[in-house]
Order: sequence, then C-alpha cells, then structure tokens
Amino acid sequence: MGQNNKNFLVVYFSHTGTTKILAEKIAEILSCDIEEIIELKERKGLLGFLKSGFDAAKEKFTEIKPLKTNIEKYESVSFFCTMGGVGDKKFFSKLESLCNKKPVICASFKKLDIVSGRYIEKLKELLKTL
Ligand SMILES: Cc1cc2nc3c(=O)[nH]c(=O)nc-3n(C[C@H](O)[C@H](O)[C@H](O)COP(=O)(O)O)c2cc1C
Repeated sequence: MGQNNKNFLVVYFSHTGTTKILAEKIAEILSCDIEEIIELKERKGLLGFLKSGFDAAKEKFTEIKPLKTNIEKYESVSFFCTMGGVGDKKFFSKLESLCNKKPVICASFKKLDIVSGRYIEKLKELLKTL
C-alpha cells in the first residue's frame, strides 16, 4: 500500500454511524486520511436524543476533542452530510459562514441511500470534480 494522498483530509462527525459510512467511503475513493470528531458531551439514550434536538434548535456549540491534524493547512473545503429528508441548504450555508470559505462541493445524501449503498455512484461522480 502506498502513502495516502496528503491533498485531502476527511473530517467527520457521526452519532449513529450513517455519516461514518459516507466519510469512510470518501476517504477510500480519495485514498486520503480520515479523522473523526469526538464530542465530549454525553448524548446516549432518550435524554441524549432530546438534548441533541434542543441544542440543534438553539444552534448551540459543543466541546470536541482537539483534532490530531492541523486543518488550517488545507486551502479548500467541501461539505457532505447525511439526513432523513430536508434541511441541507440551510445547514450548508451555516457551515460556509462558520468556516468563512466557499465550498467546492456541497452534497447531501439520504440516510436510506447510505444504508442501501445507492449513494456510491453519485459520490464517485462528485469526487471527480475535486
Ligand atoms: C441538514 C440535516 C437535517 C436533519 N434533519 C433531521 C430531522 O429533522 N430529524 C431528525 O431526526 N434527524 C435529522 N437529521 C439527522 C439525520 O436524519 C440522521 O439522523 C443522520 O443522517 C444520522 O447521521 P449519523 O448516523 O452519522 O449520526 C438531519 C441531519 C442533517 C445534516
């Protein structure tokens, strides 16, 4: 196995594993490193679920474990998310203003498509544009 492509890094957060599948596939296609965002706040069980909904509605920031990689060295950014149905446009525009960079790719995938594997062809086509 050769060295990973250092032009790319996949950074992801996944609470229940759906986005992890997508993130790992992106890293596999790009042959690049991958790093998981670990939240320090406990969100297990029903209480955690309710807390998450409340925090999301209030747009509250959270504490995360410091990343191992210095992400400042990467010039461009792309956003990917998984979702049940809607909300991606608003979400991407929030991310864009938070990182203050125009993303190269913004792409959302339905949770059901990730689970069934139907997302892979669309993903491969998108990643060709990088
Ligand atoms: C833009 C966006 C909108 C979402 N809207 C909802 C929602 O309305 N209700 C909900 O239960 N989950 C919502 N989610 C979460 C997703 O449906 C789903 O839980 C997510 O794909 C799970 O990812 P994970 O398994 O990586 O944690 C949303 C996610 C995103 C990114």
